[in-house]
Amino acid sequence: MNKLNSKVTDEMNFYKGLNPGQLLKEFGSPLYVYNESILRDRCREMLNLVDYNEFTVSFSSKANSNLAVLEVVQSEGLKIDAMSPGEALIGFKAGFRSEDILYVCNNIAVEEMKFVAEKGMIIGVDSISQLRAWGKVNPGGKVFVRFNPGIGTGHNEKVITGGENTKFGIDAEDVKEVANAVKEFNLKLIGINQHVGSLFMKGDVFIEGARNLIETAKKFDSIEFINLGGGFGIPYNKQNGELPIDLEEMGKMILELINQFNSEIGRSLKYIIEPGRYIAAECGVLLGQVNTVKTSGGKKYIGTDIGFNVLARPVMYDSYHDIEVYRECEACSEKHEKVNIVGNICESGDVIAAERMLPEIFEDDIIAVLDAGAYGHVMSSNYNFRLRPAEVLIRESGEAVLVRERDTICDILNKYKPIGFK
Ligand code: LLP
Repeated sequence: MNKLNSKVTDEMNFYKGLNPGQLLKEFGSPLYVYNESILRDRCREMLNLVDYNEFTVSFSSKANSNLAVLEVVQSEGLKIDAMSPGEALIGFKAGFRSEDILYVCNNIAVEEMKFVAEKGMIIGVDSISQLRAWGKVNPGGKVFVRFNPGIGTGHNEKVITGGENTKFGIDAEDVKEVANAVKEFNLKLIGINQHVGSLFMKGDVFIEGARNLIETAKKFDSIEFINLGGGFGIPYNKQNGELPIDLEEMGKMILELINQFNSEIGRSLKYIIEPGRYIAAECGVLLGQVNTVKTSGGKKYIGTDIGFNVLARPVMYDSYHDIEVYRECEACSEKHEKVNIVGNICESGDVIAAERMLPEIFEDDIIAVLDAGAYGHVMSSNYNFRLRPAEVLIRESGEAVLVRERDTICDILNKYKPIGFK
């Protein structure tokens, strides 16, 4: 296999000597490929982020809820956040216990609250309405509350979850109403939580939001933990030299904050972070094949099988992902050119990378979309009646194992019930 611009995956030893073309032949195209060693490294980096005894890393499993990924995360000693019964159930299957799962949910039905209560998970609510609903379902129970930290950040306005214009969190001014609902239902408020948004490379907003939380925290004596949320970013543009987040600096800032909180509150609390992307993004690559090469309206289009049903991020958020190009035969061109990498979905917006400078690409080449391990497969769909791809894990030993089968057409067809015109 001839890898034309594979510096990033080579340096990470992503494929551990395996041939991506062979993986596609064996497991089908497109294909999500995860690397266990990288996943373990990211878990450990987060666990070691802050030098504080009662510091917990709760992986936000919405980023990647593949069972094998969760098993690895569990074996590294992390906990998880779940935000639906499905995420909780697959978490249990991966070996997490009820007390390892924070149910960080939004706008759920009473039936779902009953499920959380039955399973004994710790629930976090983010409205007075949900707090009261929980009080009715589980009077005397434990709960934590998500406040709006008053400030937000993120790579796209759709993922900014603090400040104005967000459906998340309770405003700090409503603390009295929280206290009233807690009292009315005899609830035990054991924690408070913020999440400023998804993807920051510097800690300023995260820290400022957390500082705002302390004022709220001080009003509740029963609090055992503060959950600072997730959002830790990764460099999606490594091919142009983007650098990773400075974990040492981030760790110091968080420790300083913890020390300040503890002294203001007058006791040592537990602290939680809930990263999703940081843990899962870089351990995943999405492979696909080039079916078409054409020029139209002066633009060059590379038609692949990676539609936005397979990876939604570029279309949904204009997200940038580095792209590598591989070829079975010897490279037949030294040329680089600007191309548009597109998928096979019936919409003009189905573009993975627009006007991207890449080595000249030919039919049957393989495209690798990097950093696809977070919000990749979990956001895929059956749009255009296409099948969600398989997922493969390259074990630490270098062996590739299938960890989720590709959908089958029967799975989908069988859900339909004919009305049966005769
Ligand atoms: N905690 C809460 C309450 C969250 O809502 C989220 C993500 C996280 C933690 C984890 O955030 P992370 O560390 O992964 O940034 N689909 C989007 C990202 C959506 C994030 C949703 N909430 C994307 O592909 O960029």
